[in-house]
Amino acid sequence: MLNSKLNGEVYFPSAEVLKNATIKDWEQLNKKALDNYEEFWSELASELHWFKKWDRVIEDSEKPFYKWFTGGKTNIVYNCLDVHVNTHRRNKLALIWEGENGDSKTFSYYALHRETCKFANVLKSMGVQKGDRVTIYMGRVPEIVIAMLACARIGAVHSVVYGGFSVESLAERIEDSNSKVLIVADGAYQRGKIVQLKQIADEALQRCGTVEHVLVVKRTGQEINMESGRDMWYHELMNLPIAIQNNTLEEVDSEYPLFILYTSGTTGKPKAILHTHGGYMVGIYATLKYVFDIHDDDRYWCAADPGWITGHSYIVYGPLLNGATSFMYEGAPNFPYPNRWWQIIEKYGINILYTAPTAIRGLMRFGEAWVNRHNLSSLRLLGTVGEPINPEAWKWYYNVVGKGKCPIMDTWWQTETGMFMITPMPCVPLKPGSGSRPFPGIVMDVVDEKGNSVQANEEGYLVIKTPWPAMIRTVWKDSERYISQYWSRYPGMYLTGDSARKDEDGYFWIIGRVDDVIKVSGYRLGTAEIESALVSHNTVAEAAAIGLPHEVKGNAIYAYVILRTGVEKSPALIDELRQHVSHEVGPIAKPEHIEFVDALPKTRSGKIMRRVLKAKALGQDPGNLSTLEE
Ligand code: PRX
Repeated sequence: MLNSKLNGEVYFPSAEVLKNATIKDWEQLNKKALDNYEEFWSELASELHWFKKWDRVIEDSEKPFYKWFTGGKTNIVYNCLDVHVNTHRRNKLALIWEGENGDSKTFSYYALHRETCKFANVLKSMGVQKGDRVTIYMGRVPEIVIAMLACARIGAVHSVVYGGFSVESLAERIEDSNSKVLIVADGAYQRGKIVQLKQIADEALQRCGTVEHVLVVKRTGQEINMESGRDMWYHELMNLPIAIQNNTLEEVDSEYPLFILYTSGTTGKPKAILHTHGGYMVGIYATLKYVFDIHDDDRYWCAADPGWITGHSYIVYGPLLNGATSFMYEGAPNFPYPNRWWQIIEKYGINILYTAPTAIRGLMRFGEAWVNRHNLSSLRLLGTVGEPINPEAWKWYYNVVGKGKCPIMDTWWQTETGMFMITPMPCVPLKPGSGSRPFPGIVMDVVDEKGNSVQANEEGYLVIKTPWPAMIRTVWKDSERYISQYWSRYPGMYLTGDSARKDEDGYFWIIGRVDDVIKVSGYRLGTAEIESALVSHNTVAEAAAIGLPHEVKGNAIYAYVILRTGVEKSPALIDELRQHVSHEVGPIAKPEHIEFVDALPKTRSGKIMRRVLKAKALGQDPGNLSTLEE
């Protein structure tokens, strides 16, 4: 256990927290994992069900294409549902859901299992086979969970597209994944309005030709277009005799694809990150168990969206693997009033809240009176993810929401890592703004240009030096990109794309992305996606997007646009372009600000120098300009 010699501002776990914590000695667990890494993971894997036990824990003969638990046969859904249905958890609530408009639904493990089996049968009857990709495009509703689990149950590979994305983003992802089936909702409630998901999907389907069946979940009940022969209602299909046939489940190899999830990278199109059944299952089961220390009677709320990795790992799969009760809320945190979240915590007796700094900063602005109206004494643990949390927001979260008694798990990880990588546990002393140290057994470092470790407190590139079970297996259909993006800069080290520093106590402090990824409200966007949306407008010749600091969102998008010859600059055109990006990529990508320029700073090879634009916007020194062409 770390002692009081830690540097800086430190929050030590209280006697009460230590008493409740399953892991009381982090150092000991870390030592155990470091001494025998394979055995550490093997023991955790043994807590789950395997139809056939693995032969090897880590297979590294084709590095960096690591494989985990090879020779093993399992299915993550069997461990999420079937296992619990046969225990005392059969009638325990697996999922509690509240809609933004006050609707609510609950599913016991028995009910979630039954609905999943039914939908798996429906998918099969649509011709979905093992290995087929299925795109899912919905808001935060229970059917998204059922759809994901049903796919995985029959060995189909789900590709969830975040419901906040729009036409082009959806079309591109459907096309790239070659999905024949799209599962969509008629709409989603967001801040009292309806997001027209089906309408967006219809428009996207005009741009890509792979989809044969569209299964539509009725959420809002509004009038929508249903294309005959292509579109079918979910609730009607679920009532057909075919749905209640049997409990089909595919026993798959440990390394069998579970899902792909598109994420933004350095250049070009979003890439599909591939995760597989076995290793991913073990990684998220173990991290959630240790970090959020789930107890059987806990109610756990991860307020992310299932459409991003946080939702995949820690709304859907992780809690179910742990037999937990997971809560899901559809809407905005401040709708209809800024106390909505606090009201929910009180109403359902939530014990663990896991959210993003941007949400905390957003709610903080409304003042603590909104929080103090509610009894939040059920809370035991808090969590944060997605971007660095500023100490001011950390302290507000700790003191106002957690009343000074709930440790904050600041979890650093990525779509690619699948699971928490840098994270405390309840027994670990906390420093506001740092996620503390890597999960036991995982070796991470901060290195310079040459790949050498930097001194304590010096900034450098954040890298991972050990394989981990939930790691990305490859970029779907593009293994070259997997190697070049993550493994080619420093052989043997996984490049995260983040800059960080490590202090004298070994605590990591994340600074931010060093590539062309912008984190807006914790959402990951690529400059390339925003720029290509801008140039798809008939008035735009060239565009460059950058992220600039924003008080609530962390970063806001600024775009620089060169108009085509003869096009008049006007405030109306700025509005139109912002709207266009929102329509093509999604409202989260809408630039905060657009400026018309006559030229963009570029290298001689034609690459836009975004760092120069950023420095100029911030009134800073642009640094070395020797490669600047104009
Ligand atoms: O920059 C880091 C930031 O989010 C990036 C990963 O984004 P994404 O793949 O969308 O996954 C987000 C949710 C896991 C990282 O490269 N990031 C994530 N968590 C933190 C963070 N930055 C600082 N602190 C965190 N806790």
